[in-house]
Amino acid sequence: MNSDIKINDLRKVFKTDDKETVALENFSLDIREGELISIVGPSGCGKTTLLRMIAGLLEPTSGEVIIGDKKCEGPGPDRGMVFQEFALFPWRSVRRNVEFGLEIADVPKDERRERAMRYIRAVGLEGFEDHRVHELSGGMKQRVALARAMVTKPDVLLMDEPFGSLDAQTRNIMQMELLRIIEKTNSTIVFVTHSVDEAVFLSDRVVILTKRPASIKEIVDINLPRPRDRASEEFIKLRKHILQQLEDENVKLRADGNVLLDTD
Ligand SMILES: Nc1ncnc2c1ncn2[C@@H]1O[C@H](COP(=O)(O)OP(=O)(O)OP(=O)(O)O)[C@@H](O)[C@H]1O
Ligand SMILES: [Mg+2]
Repeated sequence: MNSDIKINDLRKVFKTDDKETVALENFSLDIREGELISIVGPSGCGKTTLLRMIAGLLEPTSGEVIIGDKKCEGPGPDRGMVFQEFALFPWRSVRRNVEFGLEIADVPKDERRERAMRYIRAVGLEGFEDHRVHELSGGMKQRVALARAMVTKPDVLLMDEPFGSLDAQTRNIMQMELLRIIEKTNSTIVFVTHSVDEAVFLSDRVVILTKRPASIKEIVDINLPRPRDRASEEFIKLRKHILQQLEDENVKLRADGNVLLDTD
């Protein structure tokens, strides 16, 4: 299936009793099949909102998301999502969390088990497959969420700060692992991160968002061969440029009276 993503003039307004929040505005972006796009932007600017609309979990106020040649009108098995807050089943074991999407797809039990174990190993959780999720650390939960999203081999993988609660070393390992896995699958990936280093390390393109309402400030092509050398001059230069762009947005946020923020 063709898994190009076309985002056309997307806008999202949240209405609560006493106020309206415009989360996203004038947002258009074409993502090629097999591409890894990172989204970076100030906290609260609308990144999760964008991912949820691509996932079909949230309806745009106006505009549209087209995946392949189909307008996105709800969630589907072609898209997997790793949520910022994990969204695991705490009472289920690690293995049964990872098997979840395969159960829904009616994959037979033996195959389910075998495929789940392959991804549990890939995220370094072998030996923990029978533990319940509430017994795990934050970083381990995050790895379960990752295995669960990848096990169904979705055409589109939407990842909301998937490595945010990992320690630096595990994070680097998971980044390498992600690149290794997607090399084989040709999944299209939209990856939200607060780490500019991570964005430059992983992505084909980095999309920098403005402060809320999020629109595109700049798209930076990362034309560096993989695996990337974080110490190389080009890497550092790109990283610096993106950080500067983000800092500009954060300065505007502070000028609005908001406190901010955490980019490395
Ligand atoms: N369900 C909702 N109802 C009302 N307002 C919402 C809802 N979801 C998000 N918002 C608002 O929309 C804006 C964007 O939120 P969003 O979660 O997309 O930000 P974000 O860029 O993912 O932030 P972070 O980097 O902190 O995760 C925020 O002002 C938030 O309060
Ligand atoms: Mg978010």
